[in-house]
Amino acid sequence: MARGSTVAVPGGFGTGKTMLLQQIAKWCDADVIVYVGCGERGNEMADVITELSELRDPRTGGRLADRTVTIANTSNMPMMAREASVHTGMTVAEYFRDMGLDVVVIADSTSRWAEALREFASRTGALPAEEGYPAGLASAIAAFYERAAAVTTLGGDRGSVTVIGAVSPPGGDLTEPVTAHTERFVRCLWTLDRDLAYARHYPAVSWAGSFSRDVPVLAAGHRAAGDPQWSRHRDRVGAALAEADRLADLVDLIGIAALPARERVSVLAGRLVREGVLQQSALSERDAYCGPEKTAALADAVLAVVDRCRELVDSGVPATSVEDVDFGPLLRAREDTGPHDAAGVAARRDAVLAGLGEVRP
Ligand SMILES: Nc1ncnc2c1ncn2[C@@H]1O[C@H](COP(=O)(O)OP(=O)(O)O)[C@@H](O)[C@H]1O
Ligand SMILES: [Mg+2]
Repeated sequence: MARGSTVAVPGGFGTGKTMLLQQIAKWCDADVIVYVGCGERGNEMADVITELSELRDPRTGGRLADRTVTIANTSNMPMMAREASVHTGMTVAEYFRDMGLDVVVIADSTSRWAEALREFASRTGALPAEEGYPAGLASAIAAFYERAAAVTTLGGDRGSVTVIGAVSPPGGDLTEPVTAHTERFVRCLWTLDRDLAYARHYPAVSWAGSFSRDVPVLAAGHRAAGDPQWSRHRDRVGAALAEADRLADLVDLIGIAALPARERVSVLAGRLVREGVLQQSALSERDAYCGPEKTAALADAVLAVVDRCRELVDSGVPATSVEDVDFGPLLRAREDTGPHDAAGVAARRDAVLAGLGEVRP
């Protein structure tokens, strides 16, 4: 997502919404962080506040809490104040934006806010629409997200408000009104997938169920920052995941041994991308944050290794010999190298390529 954009993070209970949002609060590229705890558990809010006050700010060397605003309306606090909490957060953000700062508003969770709207509507006798929510639910959600923007202030500075909202659909049902309406108004969607979370693939962002409308802007940004390959990498990583998903059903049905060698490499490619690039442990000191140059190096390493595997099976090497190569250095590169260590990732890529070089038909 780009600055001034909006993203919704829908996901059932325990899929990692709060964890993801807290990580973004810690590591995102913003000057000011506004964290709105909206109707979620009080102990999570307390965790956020303690962690932020303990965390060193990588930019200033001070405490991260010094540039964070927290707005608390936990589940035990008055419902009616919840309606105001997200707007309060947004207003605080706009105040800093107008000073020429980049601000991110993190709201966990907008579903609790929508439930407060429903409660309010029913007490005031408004006519209920779908699932008891007021008829104006869609416009209320739109009015919240449309306050995100990148602006030029009256003083001529550049400032922005970026909005990240968690959505917690009851029972993980993504067709319920709050999730469905939110999807219409955000520029990016990161859907958290229960199966991925159960498999401890964190962050459990579903590649098939998520989208970003910021891709062209980001591609231009990466190009300007000296990474012209970004778009191509992204497309290839996406294609590898889609192909592996397509083959997964087939593997369940007929077994991996029955697949042609090229397709077995595609299955391997899916695994390397998932474990080597997408997964990221919030609990690891080195992996919790990954700089753009390391992200690019990880994608490049996996794609280079996959290309070499393809060349090998095309030249007649059996797929099993390729699969037996130790891909460990590549899969552990995320955690074994520092957050900006692109050279370290490249060294591990070369180690795996050397291992593949020893494979004989
Ligand atoms: N990125 C991550 N890295 C490691 N563990 C994670 C990550 N995301 C979630 N988890 C695990 O999943 C648990 C539930 O996550 P949480 O954010 O509380 O879910 P939700 O807010 O969606 O209900 C966490 O306590 C943690 O153990
Ligand atoms: Mg949560």
